[in-house]
Amino acid sequence: MPQLLTLSRAARLVGVTRGAIQKKIQNGELSTFEGQLKVTELLRAYPETQIDDTHMLERVKQIKTAATFTRPRDHESALPSTDVLIARLIKLGKELIEVKSAFKRQNELLKTTSNKLAELEDDSLHQWLKAEIQQHPKLDPAAQLLANDTVLGIIAAQVKIIPSGHEFFVEGKDSILQAALRAGLAINYGCESGNCGACKARIVSGEVQAIRNYDYVFTDLEKQMNYQLLCSCTAITDLTIEAAEAHNPEDIPLQQIDTKVKKLAQLNDELLLLRLQTPRTNTLRFLAGQYATLQFDNTEIQAFIASCPCDGRNLEFHLNSKYNKFFDLNQTVKLEGPHGDFVLQENSKRPTLFITDDQGFPPIKSLIEHVIASDNEIINHLYWISQEKIEHYQHNLCRSWVDALDDFKYTATETINQVVTDYPDLSNFEVYIAGSENLISAAAKVLTNKYHIAKLRGNK
Ligand code: FES
Repeated sequence: MPQLLTLSRAARLVGVTRGAIQKKIQNGELSTFEGQLKVTELLRAYPETQIDDTHMLERVKQIKTAATFTRPRDHESALPSTDVLIARLIKLGKELIEVKSAFKRQNELLKTTSNKLAELEDDSLHQWLKAEIQQHPKLDPAAQLLANDTVLGIIAAQVKIIPSGHEFFVEGKDSILQAALRAGLAINYGCESGNCGACKARIVSGEVQAIRNYDYVFTDLEKQMNYQLLCSCTAITDLTIEAAEAHNPEDIPLQQIDTKVKKLAQLNDELLLLRLQTPRTNTLRFLAGQYATLQFDNTEIQAFIASCPCDGRNLEFHLNSKYNKFFDLNQTVKLEGPHGDFVLQENSKRPTLFITDDQGFPPIKSLIEHVIASDNEIINHLYWISQEKIEHYQHNLCRSWVDALDDFKYTATETINQVVTDYPDLSNFEVYIAGSENLISAAAKVLTNKYHIAKLRGNK
């Protein structure tokens, strides 16, 4: 039986994103066995892997932090709770006993075989076996990589969702739900506190542990089928779970939430950054690229959410500066949403172009941050069009994406014609355009293929 790793674990062990591994598989540079990777195959494709380099396991986390400026967790700790660590170590101890028993049995067999060979007249086979046994064992890179994987298994359990096949890691003191959301998955949930039952999922294999008491009452059938609340338990071992995920805007209910203003800052002369925070137990479920209605001071506007759905509590908006006078810190803003269908075509394997200008950047930022959070390298090129020769207001953020992602390109240019010059045939691309009326009409003149356009219902 070959030693196999899931794609997510393999990516962590060699310090690349899961998308990078998938790309190698698509290009035929890596082959899989039953959907998983052989350890030897991984080492062949990544010979430069530094087995003893502990920084290796941190690289993917650094990529995401650099690229999304992810805020620290509420209780910043990379380690799970003591209870979870003990449970994982007990399980590892049992595995160790099994391996040691098997090893002892093999040793005894080897000794018996050696003794039997010694009794034969021709002892050349006996001498050969003795020499082989006495050879100093070499350090096997594959075994060392598996040892790293064991350490990874103590720090973080891996969860696979069926039927989608999505994978993510549960780290620190996260519930399974929190870990899924951080990984950019649109899993079903509601209250996040064990009351509504919206996050219930069937544990198909593996062990979970409750991390809070909850009020939701399971039916007898649900108990028999091993249903659990993902918001109220964490993973002790690697898991396979059957859980509902949103794939389209229609899968997500309309929500009304009273939020608080937590940050106000000028992005440039014309744009204001507004950060709203929801209550801890009533975060906003949305898909990247959607927008919300904001009500404040007898005013109602629609605005695209500029942040990643992996953090449904802290919501970023880039508004016209004229609204600055309406807001104060900690003021209540009524939010209704999400709206809109400018969302990623998740099942598309086609390369992707994003085209934007100052007015259209928020949904594009949300889409790109979502792609980064989900370890999915489908981004190819971002174009930021501006006829004014001034630096775009989030130029540095776009440059940080280039540094963080292996295949990401970013071009700041004065005309959309640049896109057509670079990509004369866009028929095999997914193209997302968000921006001013000028940008949209310029796109309609030069792009002949189908593309996705970000549209608000219109502000009142
Ligand atoms: S989200 Fe409501 S019970 Fe888990």
